[in-house]
Amino acid sequence: MPADLTTHFTGLKFVNPFILASAPPTESKRKIMKAFEAGWGGVVTKTIGLHPVENVAGPKTIFQRVSEAKPYVSRNKRPDTVSHSSWNWELISDQPIDLWLPDLEEIKSSYPDRMLIASIMAGAGGAREMENWKKLSTACVDAGCDALELNLSCPHMDRKDMGAHIANDEQIITSIVTAVRSAVSVPIWVKLTPSNSALVDGAAAAYAAGASSISLCNTFPSLPLMDPETMKFEVEVDGLVTSGGLGGLAILHQALQRVSDISRAFPDKEISGIGGIRGFREAFNFIVHGAGNLQVCTAAMEEKGSGGIGVKLIQELNTDLSDYLERKGYKSIEDFRGLARQRIVEHSQVRRKSDAYNGGYVQSA
Ligand SMILES: Cc1cc2nc3c(=O)[nH]c(=O)nc-3n(C[C@H](O)[C@H](O)[C@H](O)COP(=O)(O)O)c2cc1C
Repeated sequence: MPADLTTHFTGLKFVNPFILASAPPTESKRKIMKAFEAGWGGVVTKTIGLHPVENVAGPKTIFQRVSEAKPYVSRNKRPDTVSHSSWNWELISDQPIDLWLPDLEEIKSSYPDRMLIASIMAGAGGAREMENWKKLSTACVDAGCDALELNLSCPHMDRKDMGAHIANDEQIITSIVTAVRSAVSVPIWVKLTPSNSALVDGAAAAYAAGASSISLCNTFPSLPLMDPETMKFEVEVDGLVTSGGLGGLAILHQALQRVSDISRAFPDKEISGIGGIRGFREAFNFIVHGAGNLQVCTAAMEEKGSGGIGVKLIQELNTDLSDYLERKGYKSIEDFRGLARQRIVEHSQVRRKSDAYNGGYVQSA
């Protein structure tokens, strides 16, 4: 008999800990319903906002691959390649909130046992934007959403008061979480950008203001590659590019480090792990660093024949987690969650070949 994969996270019951991250796999009612049918424990909707959205006049996402024969990273089709990463410069949902709300209601009433988390985004430039956060929160919760994820992490916003631009500012994080907290009582997840040198301070501000969880990571700010023959970027519009977001396997190690930093700083708080999950081994790594919930985007988008929602992937994740729990005699992921925390130490605390090492300081005469 398969193991029970039920997971409790931020006070919500998930039938399994695997959810689809905010992105194209969760951009429509049709895809979300299909994802729940396939077995995902929850979804975070594609980010919903109130401001107008117009995407670039070209491809919004590319999938980059490497091959053993010619191991360069490229979106170019070659035989025998494996996935390296996704790169995107897609904006938030272009479906207006008025169309989202009836969809959210229908999704929740069709799948009451699956967790529906609305990703929302407004600005930070004054009282009106705080009202927008409250408006979005109240509307999504009234439509039946079980939790909210605040997008403070989109790496390619023009507006300087939105997305990753504001996640370096603890006062802004506090104001936004406080505004949302005053409007709704469901769990609030805060998705921070990984490109923040003061990530622990940002997470501290979010938790202190009432966030139940931090979601890490959004994509890493990055540029696409240029082809040496054509002199074109692998994705561009009229020869121009801008910083976009790198996701998929290529960000796994960096995402783990960010999750570990937050999880070690706040071992009693909750954290949702995202970045490069393609199967059980990557999910396992987030869990041992403290994540109690796992989000997936690129690997689901890349799966052929599933409409980009990872039908086979969720079956494999569930089967492999179930087998692992049984093999190890664990009851749930709680039995191994956070196990790696104590084993991440300062460089100087790792044994040297000789005892003479003092941490790298010059000895005074
Ligand atoms: C095409 C694309 C669109 C995305 N859109 C959003 C979004 O609207 N809101 C958001 O919070 N994250 C967005 N993301 C980021 C993902 O939710 C996720 O954090 C990131 O891709 C890392 O996970 P992965 O390595 O499994 O892809 C997007 C990612 C991609 C590839």
